[in-house]
Formats: sequence, C-alpha cells, structure tokens
Amino acid sequence: MIDEVNEMDKPKIYITRKIPSYLIEPFLDQLQFKMWLEEDTPVPVDVLRNEIKEVDGLLCLLTDQIDQKCLKKANRLKIIANMAVGYDNIDVSFAHSKNIIVTNTPDVLTETTADLTFALLMATARRLVEAMDYIRKNKWRDWAPFMMAGTDIYHKTIGIVGMGRIGVAVAKRAQGFNMNVLYHNRSRNLEAEKNFGATYTEFNQLLREADFVVSLLPLTKETENIFDESAFSNMKSSSIFINVSRGGVVDEKALYKALSSGTIRAAGLDVFKHEPIGITHPFMQLNNVVLLPHIGSASIATRENMISLCLKNISNICQGKKPLTPVKI
Ligand code: GLV
Repeated sequence: MIDEVNEMDKPKIYITRKIPSYLIEPFLDQLQFKMWLEEDTPVPVDVLRNEIKEVDGLLCLLTDQIDQKCLKKANRLKIIANMAVGYDNIDVSFAHSKNIIVTNTPDVLTETTADLTFALLMATARRLVEAMDYIRKNKWRDWAPFMMAGTDIYHKTIGIVGMGRIGVAVAKRAQGFNMNVLYHNRSRNLEAEKNFGATYTEFNQLLREADFVVSLLPLTKETENIFDESAFSNMKSSSIFINVSRGGVVDEKALYKALSSGTIRAAGLDVFKHEPIGITHPFMQLNNVVLLPHIGSASIATRENMISLCLKNISNICQGKKPLTPVKI
C-alpha cells in the first residue's frame, strides 16, 4: 500500500509574495502552501502577524519586518527562509531563542550581484543614464570634445568595503579591468588577496586612496551610517561611491551634501535607507547619481534559484534534515 501523506498533515508554509507555481510544484507532495496573492503589494503587517500564528515555515522577503512582535505570534514556526543574502529585516537572535531556524540565500546570487555592482560602477563613471537623458531631451546637436566625458575605470583604484563572497566576485571583475584593488573587512580575506591581488587597507586609508569606493557591507549596529560626513570628506573629490548593500550604512543627508557640494564626484546607489524612494527624494534632484530600485540580484535565473533555495531549506527542516544555508550569529 502506498503511504500517502494526508493533505491536512503536511507542514503549512506561508509565502509573503506571489511566486511562480512551477517553483512550488516540486514540493507539493510534502508541504502545503498559502501565499499572499496580491502581485504588486507586500503583505500587510497585520496579515503577516495573523498568518504566522499557525504555520511551520515562512518564506519571506527582505521587505518583511520579522521582528519580536511578529515572532511572538508564531506558535509552531520552525523556519524562516529569507529570500535575500542580507537578513537585517529579521530579529535573528530572538528567532533563535524560540528555536526557529533562519536561512538566507548566499552563493546563488553572488555573480549576479557582482555583475550589477560593476554595471552600476560603469554606468556612474561613464554617465550612461545622463547621456541617454541627453538624447531623450533632444539636447544632442553635435559631437564635442568633452560632451558627457566621464571617469576612466581601467587602471584606477577600487576600494571594496566588506569583502565577503560578493566582494571577492567584484575584485575578480576589477582585476579584469587592471584595477588596483584595496579592501577593508572585519577580517582578512586571503582568497581575495591571493587570487585577485586585493590589498587589505584600513578604512580611512581606503577612503583616501580609492577612486571608486564600493560598499558591500551588511547592515549591523557597527556598520549603520558608517559612510558619514567624515567618511565622505576623507574621499577624493574625484571619487565615486557605489552602494549595493544596504541603505542603512549611509548617512544619506551627508551623502547628498557631499554630492551637491563637490566633496565627491558621483554615486551609484541600488539601495536606500527607506525603500522605495519616490520622485521627491532629494537624490532625484542630482545629476551626478545613478539610482536603481534594489535590483542587485535581479536576473530571472538568480531569482528562481533564490526561491528554490528557500523552498529546499524549508523542506529540509520540515523533514527533520539540516538547513542548507542557515544564518549563524
Ligand atoms: C539583497 O539585497 C539581498 O540581501 O539579497
């Protein structure tokens, strides 16, 4: 006789945003799913707090605040699978104190995010968005020696702040551009040093020497607002700041001041303190910025891989196995 799992006995999983059914199908024999189905809006906090009460697993996004208030409602939750490598939206120590495992999605997004980092760096240095706008606004009349002239990338110095997996992948790309690679991190990264010629540098020295300062820092109490007025004033007036990690690591008022007063030349930002930013955000008044809507890992294949990894982590926990990518703090 085939031992069929009764639908009602399957662990219950809540997913906070609509995801394609073809990614869920492989797990339907073991798990039952409920999803927030409104395509264009995140799940409201009160709905999430209600749904979390009776589920065994949660697949959430970086925009869902899984704080103590939310976690206190969870009566039987075993796993929170965050569809992101960063997990500053989750109170991980409180989750752990309730024996809830938290997982994230490292590795699967490394190369895609490094590609975007470099795309943003290049777009900012060579003023690509401004240049397209120039055509769109019908301002292109002729070829001129310094029309839309930007900053070179090859042979310049890149300073990577936060040398994790994505940092290493950015260093690898920088080496292809014959860049001098400096990095700052809590601990030395021998892989980056040995394989990609990265040189460990004190934070302020990196700021002083780099032509491109790239933030890949996770948001923690230690890194919050680390790029402040003093950091920007340490940078060269020709330097370009790139942030693809979390907006919280930047004092945005100080960055606005640095960009509008010429303390630094330009910035490429994929992340902001409060997302989404709207058209009234002060950065929107500046010409020397390239602003993106938090799309670091946004290739179709990588987003599919991130969702599948979340589901595998959930399935493992519900079967009493080990998670593939647990968050350890
Ligand atoms: C995106 O920001 C992520 O943390 O994966």
